[in-house]
Amino acid sequence: MSRKDIDSLLKESRRFEPPAEFQSRARIGSIEEYEKLYKESIENRDSFWSNIARELHWFQPWTEVLRWNPPHAEWFVEGKTNLSYNCLDVHLESWRRNKAAIIWEGEPGDTRVLTFQMLHHEVCRFANVLKRLGIEKGDRVAIYMPLVPELAIAMLACARIGAPHSIVFGGFSAEALADRINDASAKLVITADGGYRRGKIVPLKETVDEAVTKSPCIENVVVYKRTGGSVSFHPERDHWWHELMEAVDADCPAEPLDSEHPLYILYTSGSTGKPKGVMHTTGGYMVGTYVTSKWVFDLKEEDTYWCTADIGWVTGHSYVVYGILANGATTVMYEGAPNWPEADRFWQIIEKYKVTIFYTAPTAIRAFVKWGEQWPDRHDLSSLRLLGTVGEPINPEAWMWYHSVIGGKRCPIVDTWWQTETGAIMISPLPGATSTKPGSATRPLPGVVPEIVGPDGSAVPPGKGGFLVLREPWPSMLRTIYGDDDRYRNQYWSQVKGSYFTGDGARCDEDGYYWIMGRVDDVINISGHRLGTMEVESALVSHPKVAEAAVVGKPDEIKGEVIAAFVTVESGIEVDEALSDELKAHVVKQIGGIARPDEIRFTESLPKTRSGKIMRRLLRDIAAGRETTGDTTTLEDRSILDRLRKGQ
Ligand code: WTA
Repeated sequence: MSRKDIDSLLKESRRFEPPAEFQSRARIGSIEEYEKLYKESIENRDSFWSNIARELHWFQPWTEVLRWNPPHAEWFVEGKTNLSYNCLDVHLESWRRNKAAIIWEGEPGDTRVLTFQMLHHEVCRFANVLKRLGIEKGDRVAIYMPLVPELAIAMLACARIGAPHSIVFGGFSAEALADRINDASAKLVITADGGYRRGKIVPLKETVDEAVTKSPCIENVVVYKRTGGSVSFHPERDHWWHELMEAVDADCPAEPLDSEHPLYILYTSGSTGKPKGVMHTTGGYMVGTYVTSKWVFDLKEEDTYWCTADIGWVTGHSYVVYGILANGATTVMYEGAPNWPEADRFWQIIEKYKVTIFYTAPTAIRAFVKWGEQWPDRHDLSSLRLLGTVGEPINPEAWMWYHSVIGGKRCPIVDTWWQTETGAIMISPLPGATSTKPGSATRPLPGVVPEIVGPDGSAVPPGKGGFLVLREPWPSMLRTIYGDDDRYRNQYWSQVKGSYFTGDGARCDEDGYYWIMGRVDDVINISGHRLGTMEVESALVSHPKVAEAAVVGKPDEIKGEVIAAFVTVESGIEVDEALSDELKAHVVKQIGGIARPDEIRFTESLPKTRSGKIMRRLLRDIAAGRETTGDTTTLEDRSILDRLRKGQ
């Protein structure tokens, strides 16, 4: 064992108790209280969830809390509600009407504040715009926007009329956008003339124009003017946001929607080439995101909460917009990069708005560590009372830095484990109750029943690694894969009988604390963003010079993992640096910048089993520069490993 391993083991055994000051004011202020809630959630599931759901507004109550026909769940059956109503209208009845709902800052430094009343006004108007464009309940709307308030307005307007949105992260390419639009058969795309990122303009409209040539289902494109740069305009199809808004009023009552009415589709990577359209519905997702926001972030009326995620990912859906606004809390949104114009932008924002709760990704924290303490040191971060992380395992070193440099040793850290599919946080400390161990997401939230199992599906003893599964259904669970229910069954409910398969490896220690080890399938986690290796492989193979490709994750200090691609070329093709660059650019064009391979290794052949399966495990070892320890006897051609190591 190396010196470094010993160090991190020593750190892992540290424990941090919730600070007494925090605990005394927390919503859940002791471990006994957590345990009582947890027990209640398991023993009296229906009444437990009913009581929480009753804190929200329903046009019509449910007749049954859960109808479970595995693997299909319906929650709050026959209940009628509206998430946009619960994020907006309910707050208009009290003084909260004039409370800031969104505090927004653009990358160039422009700022906007929308109170709940102002946000409601805009959402109602935009919902009327949607109706005018022929969008009806059930129609899918694609959204491809920068992080501006209009993105939240568009989501809430869709939710208001029952038109499921499909938000596509602005970093995806035209190809990837078109695939997602077509899979959902969206009728409308909402975009902007551009967005700001590191001082440059991201040409979103241009990308939409290209995507729409491949998406005949699109009837209209709405363009929000963000940068004022010139864009091409298709007279019948394209409309300016501000012009459409002028023509409508703000009278748009929220539609009472069935609890199981689809709320959104969000595409995420799985272990096959085609992204999966994870589908969430209204009532259960609303209850799940609402209550987890309240528990995990200990949200109080006077908090200024900031989650740095882009709304194109699930974290932005659940914890920039829906769960936070449903609690009537103030959410901060920032459009741009953390190091623009300088490496202290985040700390500047925290100081300026007196942010109290800060939720970000381990990859960002690792970058901050690298940039150095002098950046946060320039700012007064004393408003912070709680820190959170999400998206990937956090290494204890980064955790300790976050704790001392950003949290001033006084803020609890909530390391929250969940997935696009789970909709809401599943395993996490409760900041006023759970003592934390750096690197562990700690214990399950009420209603969540995780287990670590071996390949045969039986539970493994504490301390031993295995697959993380969830034994019971939960309100915010995905309902299906849009248009592909078989894939839903196969992917999540067939691997371990009777359980939801997360795709993550983990272990649970003697104290019942969960330690997530990372994906066990062919999914890689780059800066907390999921990418399927198959997606990148298909992109590579679609290049005419490529014969075969295998893609693996390679450990990276900042990003967690980066992509290493092993490529064989068609005969007669010259391999050189130029081809490597060409292939990287090709992947960016096919999927987007996040999928750019860090390294391309040309090779004569790939290691395969006798049955022809690529042995990615061996490639992972080679990419990481590790010795191969596992079994290689099934390898068809053993000499290939040596050749790969020599770079042949
Ligand atoms: C990983 C993001 C360790 C995990 C909300 C999961 C984590 C995947 C954590 C989901 C965490 C997320 N510790 N790993 N706290 N949170 N993950 O769908 O591998 O983008 O399966 O959802 O991220 O990624 P997704």
